[in-house]
Amino acid sequence: MMPINLGVFVSGRGTNLQSIIDACEAGKIDATVAVVISDQADAYGLERARKHNTPAIYTPVGKNNTPEYDEADRKQLEILREHQVDLVCLAGYMRRVGPAVLSAYSESILNIHPALLPSFPGTHGQEDAANYGVRVSGCTVHFAWPKFDTGPIIIQAAVPVLPGDDGDSLTARILRQEHKIYPQAIQWFAQGRLQIEGRCVKVKDAPPPTITEAIISPGLDL
Ligand code: GAR
Repeated sequence: MMPINLGVFVSGRGTNLQSIIDACEAGKIDATVAVVISDQADAYGLERARKHNTPAIYTPVGKNNTPEYDEADRKQLEILREHQVDLVCLAGYMRRVGPAVLSAYSESILNIHPALLPSFPGTHGQEDAANYGVRVSGCTVHFAWPKFDTGPIIIQAAVPVLPGDDGDSLTARILRQEHKIYPQAIQWFAQGRLQIEGRCVKVKDAPPPTITEAIISPGLDL
């Protein structure tokens, strides 16, 4: 199968980017990271890309609804086209993708979010879940829609929230699952196995859930 070209957007350290690069290089997914784009000049994700000889481009984005923001949107679209990107992967990209990219890549933009959407959308999913006191949280890969964190859900992983957890410890537990489910979602996309129906996603020949019954957290004494 011809690998698809990925354009990965990052704002920070880029561990999800790394898991995607590793899965591509190991031949686990039929994809290549063609370009990495960041709104932050010093994002470590850019450095990770360069280490793998992948083009890494900083596009200053400015504030929402400013000429600089619109310019960045157009520039990002140009970069994606130049690198013949088939699928855009938001991997810890902390800005809204602009309308030009969203419409050109409609149904071809994925996002990873560190909570079980639709719970705890926004930029502090893990802290918000820990502070709320939920017993189970997790992560979600979904198609990006213009309204933030609302698009059709492809895959989720649930983890327990443990006594004494704060945002950091929960973040680490969730991150380990992010690194598993994002490459998987990309591979299903590459294989043409994802079909959006309204706000639901059908995964063709989806394997059964890894845990077949339930995560109950805390566990049962009975
Ligand atoms: C990840 O936990 C990702 O889910 C989250 O940012 C982190 C980036 O980590 N994304 C969001 O919160 C999006 N709203 P990484 O740079 O190490 O991949």
